[in-house]
Amino acid sequence: MTDQPILQVENLTIDYVVLDGIIKAVRNVSFTINEGEVVCLVGESGSGKTTVGLAISRALPENAIIREGRIIFKGRDLLNLEIRDKSTIEDKVMMIFQDPAATLNPLFKVGEIFSDVIKHHLKLSDQLKIREKALEFLKAVELPDPERIFNSYPHELSGGMLQRVIIAITLSVNPKLLIADEPTTMLDVTLQAQILDLLINLKKKFGLSILFITHNLSIAAEIGDRIIVMYGGEIVEEASSEELLKNPLHPYTKGLLECIPKTHIKYSKLKSIPGMIFDLRNPPLGCVFVDRCTEATDLCRKDKPRLIEFLKNHKVACHLYRGSTK
Ligand SMILES: Nc1ncnc2c1ncn2[C@@H]1O[C@H](COP(=O)(O)OP(=O)(O)OP(=O)(O)O)[C@@H](O)[C@H]1O
Ligand SMILES: [Mg+2]
Repeated sequence: MTDQPILQVENLTIDYVVLDGIIKAVRNVSFTINEGEVVCLVGESGSGKTTVGLAISRALPENAIIREGRIIFKGRDLLNLEIRDKSTIEDKVMMIFQDPAATLNPLFKVGEIFSDVIKHHLKLSDQLKIREKALEFLKAVELPDPERIFNSYPHELSGGMLQRVIIAITLSVNPKLLIADEPTTMLDVTLQAQILDLLINLKKKFGLSILFITHNLSIAAEIGDRIIVMYGGEIVEEASSEELLKNPLHPYTKGLLECIPKTHIKYSKLKSIPGMIFDLRNPPLGCVFVDRCTEATDLCRKDKPRLIEFLKNHKVACHLYRGSTK
């Protein structure tokens, strides 16, 4: 890992236009990812994590509007690329999703899908070489019997195997940044752990940087070098995984931590943070978490706390830490 940022997201603000208004899904989001770093975006459903990932991989749906911001990848602004630059950057940022079965066309065998990608991206035409390359990547993701997988239809494979196939196909185009959006959510706990281990190994082997999106703080702590906590479209806290777990500052992060089941306590009741996220068509004027925060004051309703570096390399947006400096 280096301190060289591979990605800089600055003031990213994204709306979705819907029939009855405008959903303000992401507001003023800024962060960086360094080369070789795994950064986790954590937050409840609807906090804007996927929207951020889709914006970086330039795959937002048509009703999304980027109102403001820059996404600088390896020094180039992805939102302002000249046509001729698009192809050189295209394969460098890849995204994988929660449901591997939905990603692969069920009508084609894994080998056919894989060959197509290799042919297109690596500009190979020799069938034998294409097959060799595909098998090499299927091996790299530790799939047993790559030959059999190559000749299988997606429905013949388990969820865990399919996610490995997707990761293999994704890596074959040699990306520099991998955006993994809840890639283990649909898998059982043992498979989850295996896929997380695999991603860590592949990160080292292929020199990847990873933006890992999850609603699960314990998974984030396991895989992430750094964790960014989002709530209602905004970043509320950011720190190294170790620091965030040891010393959470934002009441929302503290709440999330309390929701992690404590395996050593028998029969403990699983907690959840009371209340619901606000209507994103009408975000609060002040702090995003004000309606659910037990420590909220009048100030929190009126005035939006800025994300400040309260401790070294530990940022928080909360009036409890107002007036303090690094
Ligand atoms: N295409 C769309 N059109 C309209 N609204 C959308 C669209 N996609 C997402 N949204 C809304 O934008 C907000 C942020 O959604 P997003 O999917 O980014 O959240 P998320 O943090 O990834 O949630 P989850 O954990 O459920 O995946 C949500 O309120 C969601 O309903
Ligand atoms: Mg999502």
